[in-house]
Amino acid sequence: MVKLIWENKKDPLNNYSKLKTTYRDYYTRIEVISQRKKASNNQNWKNMLFWGDNLNVSYHLLNNFEEKIDLIYLDPPFFSGSNYNISVLEGATKYDSIAYFDCWNKDLDSYLQMLYERITNFKKLLSKNGVIFIHLDWHASHYMKLILDEIFGKNRFINEIIWYYYNKYSAGKKNLPRAHDNILVYSKSSNFTFNEQRIHRKKPTKQLKREMVNGVLKNAKDENGHVIYRTVTDKKLDDVWKIPCLQPASKEWTGFPTQKHHDLLERIIKIGSNEGDIVADFFCGSGTTIMVADKLNRKWIGCDISKYSIYLTRKRLINIRKNEQNSTNPKDLIESYAHIDEEKKELINSGFFEKELKIKRK
Ligand SMILES: C[S@@+](CC[C@H](N)C(=O)[O-])C[C@H]1O[C@@H](n2cnc3c(N)ncnc32)[C@H](O)[C@@H]1O
Repeated sequence: MVKLIWENKKDPLNNYSKLKTTYRDYYTRIEVISQRKKASNNQNWKNMLFWGDNLNVSYHLLNNFEEKIDLIYLDPPFFSGSNYNISVLEGATKYDSIAYFDCWNKDLDSYLQMLYERITNFKKLLSKNGVIFIHLDWHASHYMKLILDEIFGKNRFINEIIWYYYNKYSAGKKNLPRAHDNILVYSKSSNFTFNEQRIHRKKPTKQLKREMVNGVLKNAKDENGHVIYRTVTDKKLDDVWKIPCLQPASKEWTGFPTQKHHDLLERIIKIGSNEGDIVADFFCGSGTTIMVADKLNRKWIGCDISKYSIYLTRKRLINIRKNEQNSTNPKDLIESYAHIDEEKKELINSGFFEKELKIKRK
């Protein structure tokens, strides 16, 4: 078997049991973001948003959620070499800040170790029929494919989805404009959830009608022996997805750098899960996966280390619940959790999460 080696590559499962115990009671509930309006089928279920490092959160969750999560989507920093700066407008005050870090000082080894440790734990959280989608780009997806082969097994590779975002400006005189991301898809076992999706064709097309005759696929014919044509308006979704980058004019736009298009997440969630399943995003950013999972009646767990991410995800959740006032769809409880250190305590007490902030990518 081919394995990727890097300096100081460490087995992520050293101290696994100890860390699971350490983080069992590590998190405190900060607030109930939204209450269930009606009794739902999921009486004991609560959707959870964690503010903290997802490695520790994964050890915490392994106490109660081992093999329980049906779909995991990960959109980590890409090893792009730059941090994601934002400008924040609070009333009349404007200041610059960092939404999240992706600098790494060219230290690819630490980056790979970071994902190796986390994905090993996330695999343990994945249910027996579970599927994981890891979203990267040219910076690291080729390394990650080898790492995922090691963690999940080469045979558990399902797809490499190419997200072609045709509307993003990409500079480059000595290379072709880079216009796609790579989403690697793996399963936990050979028996996994995978729902075929169909998309509309731009133009309806005529196709020969086919039928099974004695177990052989043949062209269907009419009573005069002529082949029969049918008009087809849709087609099976393949592994190249043409979806635009989200634009500031969209009502979903949050200003968070690298916010993904909700249509992308809708496809992923529909492919890899069914209603009532548990979906997790441990690098949830502005909360796109969480919003879509909620809309599609999945249970969900979100996590991010950035205060801006938690701020935006929380606001988006409050908004969707507000807009659902008249909905008959019973919704579940939403709670947020963090390990409250001095810095977090200060921020919560300052009313940061209730503020009206306008966030803009710089
Ligand atoms: C590419 S962004 C995710 C964007 C998101 N998919 C969206 O649609 O908005 C990556 C996120 O990973 C978060 N992150 C980075 N390291 C993390 C860690 N160790 N634990 C939790 N979150 C982390 C960053 O704060 C950032 O919000």
